[in-house]
Amino acid sequence: MEKIRVDLAERSYNISIGNNILEGIGEKLKLFDLSPRIAIVSNPTVFSLYGDRVSNSVKKAGFELSTITIPDGEEYKDLLWVQHIYDELLRIKLDRSSALIALGGGVIGDITGFAASTYMRGISYIQVPTTLLAQVDSSVGGKTGVNHKLGKNMIGTFWQPRLVWIDVETLKTLPKRELLAGIAEVIKYGVIYDGELFDFLEVNKDKILNLDSRAITYIIKRSCEIKADVVSKDERESGLRAILNYGHTIGHAIETVSGYKRFLHGEAVAIGMFLEARLSQMLGLIDKDQVSRIKAVIDSYGLPSEMPADMDVQSILLSMRLDKKTVAGEMKFIFPEKIGQVRIHKGVTENTIRDLLQSKPI
Ligand SMILES: NC(=O)c1ccc[n+]([C@@H]2O[C@H](COP(=O)([O-])OP(=O)(O)OC[C@H]3O[C@@H](n4cnc5c(N)ncnc54)[C@H](O)[C@@H]3O)[C@@H](O)[C@H]2O)c1
Repeated sequence: MEKIRVDLAERSYNISIGNNILEGIGEKLKLFDLSPRIAIVSNPTVFSLYGDRVSNSVKKAGFELSTITIPDGEEYKDLLWVQHIYDELLRIKLDRSSALIALGGGVIGDITGFAASTYMRGISYIQVPTTLLAQVDSSVGGKTGVNHKLGKNMIGTFWQPRLVWIDVETLKTLPKRELLAGIAEVIKYGVIYDGELFDFLEVNKDKILNLDSRAITYIIKRSCEIKADVVSKDERESGLRAILNYGHTIGHAIETVSGYKRFLHGEAVAIGMFLEARLSQMLGLIDKDQVSRIKAVIDSYGLPSEMPADMDVQSILLSMRLDKKTVAGEMKFIFPEKIGQVRIHKGVTENTIRDLLQSKPI
C-alpha cells in the first residue's frame, strides 16, 4: 500500500492507495478516536457496487453503521440534499465524535464533506473516492461544497478529512468517459508541477487506459503527492494553491455556458488547458513546441482540446467575468511557461482572450 501525508499541523492526514483495500477500512477507523456510530453517504450506483464491502468491514470492526443515499448526479449536490443528510444524522443520533464516510465520486465527497463540516459545528469524515477525478483531486485538500442555482460550488467550507482511502480496483467499474475526465486532471498536474509525470502520461497511455495496476497507482500517487504538497503550503488558496486551477478559468466558463450538460468537468478542463497554454504562447511565455505537446497528450487520451465552433465567445467572456476566480474585474490565469512549471498571471485583457477564442486551431 502507498501512503502519502498531507501535512497541515493538527489537521494532517494520510492518503492510502492500494488494490482491493476497501475491506480494510473498518480496522483503520479503529485507530481514530471515534464514537461507535458512523454513517456512510453514497449514491445508489456506487453503493450497489461497493456498499456491502465497506459496510461489512465497518460493522466487523464494531461500529454501528447507518447508510444515507442521495440520488446520483451533480444536480443533487445542493442544500436540499444536505438538509436530508442532516435529518438522517439527527434521526440516527450521530454525535460530535461520530464520522461520515463519503463513498463515491466528487459529488458525494463534496456534499458529505460539507455536511460533516457543519453538522454540530464539524465532525470527522473519511473520503473513499471511487472515480479517478475524486482519487486524484477532489478527495484531497478539504474543499467541500454544494451548488447554488446561481452558481456551481458557491456554498462551501474548508474542512479536511481524517483519512483518504483509495482503492484503485474501483476504477474497473467506472465508465470510460469518467476515467478520461479524471486523466485530464492528471495531465494538469504534469503541466503545473512535474514534467516526469507528463512524460509518463505520454509514454504509458495504453497501460493507463487498461488500468495496469502499477501505471494507474503511479499516476494517482504522484497526483496526490503534488496536491498534498501544494495544499500543505497553501491550505486556503491565498497564493500557490491557485496553480491547481490551470485550465479551469476557461474550462469553467465552457461548463457554465454549455449548462453543465455537454461536457464533463475534466473534458472542459482539457479544453481550458490547451486554450490557456495557447494564451500563454500568445503572450510569449511558452514555446510553441511545448504547447503542441500539451495538445498532443490531451488528444491522445481522446479528450477534447478545442472549443466547439458553435460556442458563443461573448457568453464565454461574460461567464469568465462573473467567475469567483475573477477579483475586482481582474481575471486570473495559470500560464504554463514550460511543461512542469506555471506562473500565476493577472491582467490579461478581454481583447486578448477574444482573439484567442476566435483564432483558428493550430
Ligand atoms: N472539492 C474539490 O476540491 C473538487 C475538485 C474537483 C472537482 N470537484 C467536484 O467533483 C464533482 C465531480 O466529481 P466526479 O467527476 O467524481 O463525478 P461524480 O461524483 O458525479 O461521479 C461520476 C459518475 O460515476 C459514478 N461512479 C462513481 N464511482 C464509480 C465506480 N467506481 N464505478 C462506476 N460508477 C461510478 C457516479 O455515480 C457518477 O454517476 C463536481 O461536483 C466537482 O465540483 C471537487
